[in-house]
Amino acid sequence: MYTKAEIINILKDDSQNEALFLKADKIRYENVGDEIHLRGLIEFSNICSSSCKYCGLRTANKNVQRYKMSPDEIIQCAKNAADIGYKTIVLQSGEDKFFTREILCKIISEIKKLDVALTLSIGERSKDDYRAFKDAGADRYLIRIETTDENLYTKMHPNMDFKNRLNCLYNLKELGYETGTGCLVGLPGQTIESLANDILFFKNLEADMVGIGPFIPHPNTPLKDTPKGDFTLALKVMSLVRILLKDINIPATTAMETIWPNGRILALQAGANVIMPNVTKFEYKKKYEIYPGKISKDACYDGNLNNQLLLEKKDIEEKIKSIGRIISNTKGFRKNH
Ligand code: 5AD
Repeated sequence: MYTKAEIINILKDDSQNEALFLKADKIRYENVGDEIHLRGLIEFSNICSSSCKYCGLRTANKNVQRYKMSPDEIIQCAKNAADIGYKTIVLQSGEDKFFTREILCKIISEIKKLDVALTLSIGERSKDDYRAFKDAGADRYLIRIETTDENLYTKMHPNMDFKNRLNCLYNLKELGYETGTGCLVGLPGQTIESLANDILFFKNLEADMVGIGPFIPHPNTPLKDTPKGDFTLALKVMSLVRILLKDINIPATTAMETIWPNGRILALQAGANVIMPNVTKFEYKKKYEIYPGKISKDACYDGNLNNQLLLEKKDIEEKIKSIGRIISNTKGFRKNH
């Protein structure tokens, strides 16, 4: 176990990066093996009542064509993904009030009939909502803390409360969800020390999943002129998370790939063991612009959604196999828990 001072040193010193990535890769192999879990991501609504300074979907951005998929469309999308072999469905959206507890529970229970694990990533909700979603069949929940620096958090998230964010995470843990969190690397004013605190926070929380991504400036946000986050630093944070939380699930995030060629493959070789391919229809996913340049394939779209989904899945599977890794055919719950 590293101390905070050691973590800070590792993050600041770039002379041992390769050794760090190798160590994380070894710990990944020893604890979760060579299997990669694919999670089919459905971005079902880009409507958001929050105004996170970094996010292109913030309520104040009027240049977004807002959409929400109907419950039937969401369920159909999940069916398409399950049909071609996805064993986990992730439902993600902005903080969209249209999706009430009742509506979501209905969607959850329908998707759970498909014999898949179900992850929610829909932001801050009451404990009663979280309980109802769990009772309806949800298995996992993703909600990044984004940063553990309370001052920075407050600056980045107008009208939001850091304590409430923390409470959401504690509530999810208590309700028995596999709980995922994570942070952005490269927020303006973020320090190396605060990244070290983020890593220790994930450990203290005993997070089951941790997603790390570099900040990417979006032109229609107040942070449009802020430099983007550093890929190598984000990779190092991710590797340290693997070293400290040995057996958790860690995605190679889309943001990594967006700012660095082959970024996800590099992440898979530095501690990650999960990829979340986007299974949303192109007409919607192009409007789900959290940050610009979000990698997304449409070139091969021939009008047949299932063909397109299959091609995308094959494409990522080829890449995974090319580095000697295996596609899991299980639901990919956290091992030993
Ligand atoms: N750059 C990178 N990641 C971002 N996210 C939101 N906006 C950006 C951005 N501009 C991340 C947040 C959120 C996740 C869904 O997307 O960390 O939790």
